[in-house]
Amino acid sequence: MNPRSIGFQLTAWYAGVSAVVFVLLGGFMYLGMKHHLEKNLRETQSKRAGVIAETLVARVAQLGEPLVIQEIRESYAPELNSRFIRVTRPDGTVLYVCGVPADLSFDPAKVPPPAAVVARAYARVESPPDSESLLIVTGPVPTATGTFRIEVGASLGPLQAVLREWLVTFTLAFPLLLAVAAGGGWFLARRALEPVRKIIHGAEQISSHNLGERLPVPRTGDELERLSTALNQMIARLDEALSHNRRFMADASHELRTPLTILRGELETMLQQTDGAPELQDRLGSVLEEVERLAKIVEHLFALSRLDAGEAQAESVQFDLGQLVASTAEQMSLLAEDKRVTLNCLAPRAVSVEGDRARLKQVVVNLLDNAIKYTPQGGSVTLSVVAAPHVGKALLEVTDTGIGIPAGALPHVFERFFRVDKARSRELGGAGIGLSIVKAICTAHGGQVEAASEEGRGTRFRVLLPLADKSDETKDTHNAG
Ligand SMILES: Nc1ncnc2c1ncn2[C@@H]1O[C@H](COP(=O)(O)OP(=O)(O)OP(=O)(O)O)[C@@H](O)[C@H]1O
Ligand SMILES: [Mg+2]
Repeated sequence: MNPRSIGFQLTAWYAGVSAVVFVLLGGFMYLGMKHHLEKNLRETQSKRAGVIAETLVARVAQLGEPLVIQEIRESYAPELNSRFIRVTRPDGTVLYVCGVPADLSFDPAKVPPPAAVVARAYARVESPPDSESLLIVTGPVPTATGTFRIEVGASLGPLQAVLREWLVTFTLAFPLLLAVAAGGGWFLARRALEPVRKIIHGAEQISSHNLGERLPVPRTGDELERLSTALNQMIARLDEALSHNRRFMADASHELRTPLTILRGELETMLQQTDGAPELQDRLGSVLEEVERLAKIVEHLFALSRLDAGEAQAESVQFDLGQLVASTAEQMSLLAEDKRVTLNCLAPRAVSVEGDRARLKQVVVNLLDNAIKYTPQGGSVTLSVVAAPHVGKALLEVTDTGIGIPAGALPHVFERFFRVDKARSRELGGAGIGLSIVKAICTAHGGQVEAASEEGRGTRFRVLLPLADKSDETKDTHNAG
């Protein structure tokens, strides 16, 4: 769990507040209970002391001391009931003191003599050492022969046991209560953040290809609703800006195609008509070359704009990729021959894929064009198509023994207008669009393309496309070079 996340902080806050509340509540309950139990005990002792004082001690002159002692013993049986009773004469000598109780909870002999309490009220004296604490109520009893003193008490042991038991229960229950509170807090935080998670998930799914989609808007009437509405408005603005851009590129490249075709035609005618003027022919030839280069770039831009508009897969037919690669290699073999590059094509009989044949042919053409272009004389280019039914993919590889791509440039080769060596690429007629077209077509067909290269030794482009069905893997070699 990330300690900086909102969920964690809310849970921690909730658990912290709950812990403080539990501890305070527990403390108050403990003190309240202690107070209540002691008060009860004190009242009981007070009442008992009052009764003994009024009915027996106050009438000591009439009844006589032995009778008073006998009455106390018989009526209250302090030893059996673990009670402390002591009556002191006005001169400080003890008239009566109870014996050691049956449960041996305290020793009456060790209870200190009564304090000189003058008040009528009964006061409280406590705890002789090394025995259970006693709660003793003491008070004066005025008689005809002087002021006697009575003390009645009981052990605090049972009361303390109750409090101790309560404390143990609370201590055991505390972590449980805390865990329940923290769990509840975590659950609530998760539920509260669920709409945020949905917005994040939605935003992550949106790319330049599906700007038409919108984020879910939770109808909560709060900041979250405003956030998703604001994000949706932003996506709409982006969508509009991007479509505007695409339309512009499509229109511009489309408009440029016709004048370029006318220009090329005119130049070719002029070239044929300049018989006998070699210098002019040379110049016209190089102008024609540049116009052709321009036409190719415009053609690529037009293709890119249509791919951006989602036309990467205009038709969807099932066909043999191996056969498509073999025929394309055949058509481009002249190009390889011109450069004295050997062209090999290893294709199995049938690797069935589904998609737009013309677009996938464009993939092969662009990769093959690069391989031939960036491989010096005497090198070789190998095309291979195999099926990998265990992963459900058709695998097309274009391997060359050319100049290779530096490791630093490799991650960028699929970017638009990226060329490793601008000067050299320009010389070879490249604008840096071929591979971005390859990538867009592969992605639109649910496939992918990757490149591996070693500078100075060669490059391998690998295209993976979903197999249309289980293909025959028997290999057959077509040699196109
Ligand atoms: N087989 C290869 N060997 C070496 N470098 C390559 C190879 N394929 C591509 N590259 C490098 O990647 C760059 C981008 O390739 P890409 O096909 O996109 O553009 P291009 O070939 O320069 O121009 P375009 O294809 O638009 O005519 C190239 O400029 C080149 O530097
Ligand atoms: Mg290229």
